[in-house]
Amino acid sequence: MSDDVVNIPNHIAIIMDGNGRWAKRRLQPRFMGHRAGVKAVEGIVKHCAQRGVKILSLFAFSSENWRRPGKEVSLLMELFSHALNNQVKKLHDNNIKLCIIGDLEQFSPALQEQITKAQQLTANNTGLIVNIAANYGGRWDITQSVRQLAEQVRLGEITPDAITEDMISQHLTTAALPEPDLFIRTGGEQRVSNFLLWQMAYTEFYFTDLLWPEFNANALDLAIASFSQRERRFGRTSEQLQEKPDA
Ligand code: IPE
Ligand code: IPE
Ligand code: MG
Repeated sequence: MSDDVVNIPNHIAIIMDGNGRWAKRRLQPRFMGHRAGVKAVEGIVKHCAQRGVKILSLFAFSSENWRRPGKEVSLLMELFSHALNNQVKKLHDNNIKLCIIGDLEQFSPALQEQITKAQQLTANNTGLIVNIAANYGGRWDITQSVRQLAEQVRLGEITPDAITEDMISQHLTTAALPEPDLFIRTGGEQRVSNFLLWQMAYTEFYFTDLLWPEFNANALDLAIASFSQRERRFGRTSEQLQEKPDA
């Protein structure tokens, strides 16, 4: 796949689904699927950096995933902590900036500290931004943004009718990032599962039956190729875009 014929999305957001089923097919415990999933993350991060993607947002743990059996949740927490331990230095060496978004207060103090340190270490890196959504929910994100604005109203800093869409965006956990251009979900389900709800208003969607541990560089290239063929009209007509692409 040559870069010059392909439109590379700036920001790719992925729901990494299918780890459990991948393990089940191998008659292994679900946890083995999550471990294989971490390996797949490594490969995709590397490939995104090579392709010139600017931001990669990964859904690692949703606010609804606490509903899983306690044993699976605690193994996922351990895995997250291990992955941070083993990967952060490597990410840093590759000029990758790590951001973690979500309601982090529900994590153990030790994990919270690891997250803070990882973000601090990589804060000034200028390469790929890897944005991990952990204990994240799109509705939670919108709610916490609106709460901040409500507080400004309470303090008399703004009036309710001064609140704009842009202000809501600027108080989301993704305020510093442009919205996703391409959304990918592996594992065959065709739903958003409370990921970046506000931010994906105009994102292109791509679904694949591949299970997350199977999703590799080649599979990502296929998703990017599909994205390249899309005409993003943002409400305009196709003719308008052909006349004045930037209008
Ligand atoms: C996604 O894989 C990983 C997390 C939600 C943490 P799943 O664990 O949801 O895998 P399936 O959907 O059961 O196969
Ligand atoms: C979405 O996957 C969340 C993550 C991948 C972290 P789920 O497997 O939890 O989604 P549902 O429950 O099938 O919608
Ligand atoms: Mg799943």
